[in-house]
Amino acid sequence: MKAVSSLRRAEQIREIFWPILGRLDDVEAFFDREFAHAEPMVRDLCTYVLGSGGKRLRPALVLLISRMLSYSGERDVRYGAVVEMIHTATLIHDDIIDGSDLRRGRPTANSRWGNQTTVLVGDWLYSRAMDLCLELGDVEVMRQLVTATLRMTEGEILADQERGRLAIDEARYMDITRRKTAELFAAACAIPALFQPSTLHLTEPLAEFGRDIGICFQLVDDLLDFTAASVKVGKPVMADLREGKATLPIILLMPRLDGRQTERLQSVVATGRFDEITVDEVLELVRTSGTLEETHRRARRFADRALERTRSFPDSPERDALAKATQLLLDRAL
Ligand code: IPE
Ligand code: IPE
Ligand code: MG
Ligand code: MG
Repeated sequence: MKAVSSLRRAEQIREIFWPILGRLDDVEAFFDREFAHAEPMVRDLCTYVLGSGGKRLRPALVLLISRMLSYSGERDVRYGAVVEMIHTATLIHDDIIDGSDLRRGRPTANSRWGNQTTVLVGDWLYSRAMDLCLELGDVEVMRQLVTATLRMTEGEILADQERGRLAIDEARYMDITRRKTAELFAAACAIPALFQPSTLHLTEPLAEFGRDIGICFQLVDDLLDFTAASVKVGKPVMADLREGKATLPIILLMPRLDGRQTERLQSVVATGRFDEITVDEVLELVRTSGTLEETHRRARRFADRALERTRSFPDSPERDALAKATQLLLDRAL
């Protein structure tokens, strides 16, 4: 993509991902080649979405772990791109489901091209991602990605069933989080172990690491929905509540609210508007009750477990980078 990814731009992240910055450019070149000859509608929409400043976290993990495992072929770039294509397909579908019109500070694909076209291009992206696995006969890589996508889709289905409900069971919320986000992180981390017979035994430990950082990442994403300015995250503040979604800070808050407060909060998920309670009042509630902090504490537990898991990986600058990246994912919330 012509636009430099925001991962490449952000200074702090650049310092961490220095070993693979050149390879990240190769992923961008892969996208350019991939879409240059695609159907114009596919090309335009994909170029727009992929060029809109995603962090490229999942490709960065594929590349970094491939290097940590001393892989020297070209599959790292291919599957870095493939993982980002699946991520992109699910994001553009997610924005339709959530009725979102802003992502990465720009109008979403659905608000620009409509739901029909966006669904179809999402399907194209996913199918092409699978095609790219088949081109090399990498069935085991494909198996990882199919499993991750199944779990993501189930996560989105479960999340949709809970829409409009504030008092969701915590275990159910964690299950949704694991499926809709952590499984793709797990696949991104595990896939490089499949490139060489000598590293196959690391597939599951790497998947576990990815799952932990994935959960941490989603918990932090849910926190940022409350704490980050809209310009920083490129989405409206408290978009989750507006979209009818109760995340952990709200789930933990519910038992502490009186009947009137519950009703006022309920009106937001019912109408998508802050008419009966203001954004500042909700913020005050999650701050003073300590549920933002509690959510961050839980995110930290997953980050700590991920850090612990890196100890079994080959001692290398890339392993250190993975540890620093884990810390950075957690600190996004501070
Ligand atoms: C957004 O993921 C979706 C979630 C899992 C929260 P990212 O925050 O990695 O999305 P981009 O690609 O960097 O925009
Ligand atoms: C994450 O869910 C999207 C997927 C994993 C498909 P969200 O709905 O929380 O993601 P954002 O907040 O729209 O990025
Ligand atoms: Mg969404
Ligand atoms: Mg979110």
